Amino acid sequence: MERIINHINENKDNYVIELKEFLRIPSISTNEENKGDMQKCADYVERKMREAGLSKTKVFQTEGHPIVYGEWLGAKGKPTVLFYGHYDVQPVDPIELWQTPPFEPVVKDGKIWARGATDDKGQLFVHIKSVEAYLKETGELPLNVKFLIEGEEEIGSPSLGKFISTNKNLLKCDTVVISDTSLFQPGIPTLTYGLRGLSYLEVEVTGPDRDLHSGSYGGAVANPANVLIEMIAKLHDKNNKIMIPHFYDDVLKLTNQERENFKKLKLSDKAFAKEVGVKELTGEKGFTTLERIWARPTLDVNGIWGGFTGKGAKTIIPSKASAKFSMRLVPNQEPKKIAKLVCDYLMSIAPKGVKVKVTNLHGGYPVITPLEHKATKTAAKAMEKAFKKKTVFIREGGSIPVIATFATILKVPSVMMGLGLNSENLHSPNEHFDLKHFHLGILSSAYFMDEFSK
Ligand code: BES
Ligand code: MN
Ligand code: MN
Repeated sequence: MERIINHINENKDNYVIELKEFLRIPSISTNEENKGDMQKCADYVERKMREAGLSKTKVFQTEGHPIVYGEWLGAKGKPTVLFYGHYDVQPVDPIELWQTPPFEPVVKDGKIWARGATDDKGQLFVHIKSVEAYLKETGELPLNVKFLIEGEEEIGSPSLGKFISTNKNLLKCDTVVISDTSLFQPGIPTLTYGLRGLSYLEVEVTGPDRDLHSGSYGGAVANPANVLIEMIAKLHDKNNKIMIPHFYDDVLKLTNQERENFKKLKLSDKAFAKEVGVKELTGEKGFTTLERIWARPTLDVNGIWGGFTGKGAKTIIPSKASAKFSMRLVPNQEPKKIAKLVCDYLMSIAPKGVKVKVTNLHGGYPVITPLEHKATKTAAKAMEKAFKKKTVFIREGGSIPVIATFATILKVPSVMMGLGLNSENLHSPNEHFDLKHFHLGILSSAYFMDEFSK
């Protein structure tokens, strides 16, 4: 083990140079014009796996973006761990707010700045490097390893479910390990045991068959923009409860034990508000901030448009107005069931003077992973060895829908060994990743393999 750790420490700077290469590829999964870059990025991941010493690597084509698979199965009778991650990244807009270009990574203040730095290229890279350290140093791994790195996570993983179902044998393992979540605080080893699910919808309200002069028609015709805003306003009450009938029916209540555990983490609302640049926090009445984010369902408008949005003024009643909005779900809410409830509710409150169309864009199941599983306990120990602090257990508000698929199809738990920070601007301009955590992540991954093989 000492040799492996020394190898990782000695190669610290090389890892950063390689990560920069990875971050230079603009692998934005939602952009049609980046299709070629997605293939390039998949090929890059495959090459890194091969260079790390994996015995089999393959890029699988899908209807969407390629999936990269790799394996080393030379440890007979030992457990198998499957590392999952995603090489696709979010779009970069608003581009003008980036201090350095998103695909020209730079190291500044001990952090690496680029789109995908923390979500998820920097985080997934740690496992490739820990495997490499082992194989370069000793020629073998203490257990069997598989990698599954997809390119469609940020668009709802449309191809991955089918891939997993048809490749059950290939992906057979004892546990999944994922680094695509956050540390509770800088330098604090953290395991995430719960994530929220998602139901993402788009609503389009259509009124008159063309834009109308708002003087000649205003007052006599329903304005789709006004109507859309009124409908959205009816989704929450003044206590920030969601007003959709039966929305909360399947929500698993927090246990007293869990509420106590959350309290012990001592989140400061004041510091939290300051970090995001607001004067005070707002949310569902009767719950603390961590409860609201981690264990309560929410509904948020993600974007809204319609009518005239150019410079200056134009007096019209727009023909159409639209919004994208999403619900974060908690166990045991069902994304499809929730989408239908919301859709029915919107139809029921729509005035007769407009047409309402609701489209279901995508969804994903919420998850709670088993804390008592050997993989979780081992991961906690491994992180403690690397970080030299006690591991904390948290839930988080984001979503990784494939974890539910791993649980139902492969019947294995997923250990969420997150290394990012929520303040590292994932999905936002100036994304970055703390290189301390990058390094500690590689060590944690190496310790995990060592411990889990025993
Ligand atoms: N890595 C995130 C999920 C995440 C972020 C978990 C922070 C915990 C803390 C992931 O890449 C992501 O952005 N997921 C999407 C899922 C969606 C596109 C289906 C999300 O949560 O919005
Ligand atoms: Mn991610
Ligand atoms: Mn993401």
